[in-house]
Amino acid sequence: MLLPIYLYGSPVLRKKVEDISPDYPDFKQFMVDMWETMYHADGIGLAAPQIGKSVRVFVIDAEVLAEDYPEAKGFKKAFINAQIVEEEGDEWAYNEGCLSVPKINENVYRPYRVHLKYVDEDFIPHDEWFEGIRARVVQHEYDHLEGKMFVDKLPPIRRQLLKSKLTKISKGEVPTSYRTRS
Ligand code: NI
Repeated sequence: MLLPIYLYGSPVLRKKVEDISPDYPDFKQFMVDMWETMYHADGIGLAAPQIGKSVRVFVIDAEVLAEDYPEAKGFKKAFINAQIVEEEGDEWAYNEGCLSVPKINENVYRPYRVHLKYVDEDFIPHDEWFEGIRARVVQHEYDHLEGKMFVDKLPPIRRQLLKSKLTKISKGEVPTSYRTRS
């Protein structure tokens, strides 16, 4: 089922999330909905708070970036109960966007590598490093679980310039090809 995506300004995007267990009600359907909603909106990633659920889940399919970033090839994964262990490497800029912040793309600086512990859709544990664009998408989605969004990371002057745009987004006045909720 396609779910509406909560927009910048929605309190649910700022809420702390909780771990999810295999007996979460309709877990399988929940994951199907996450994937379906992400693909329908042409997203590269989607975190549970974006569909109004305060649980530690995000999904990623970065295949569309493979032309520019070879390491994105085949990067399709569900991350459940993910915890960042550490980040390292030089910070680099990447022009990020977000389904909850439509029509805004801004350069954001993040470390090159991230070390993550998580379980997959079958609740099998993983302990993995991600680099480059893989790390980037993980870091962006992970931030959603912490109630953070990429625009928070912009220099104050840049944020100030975007203020009226962000207000419009929060009022649902920016058109999108997918269903939203503010
Ligand atoms: Ni996002």
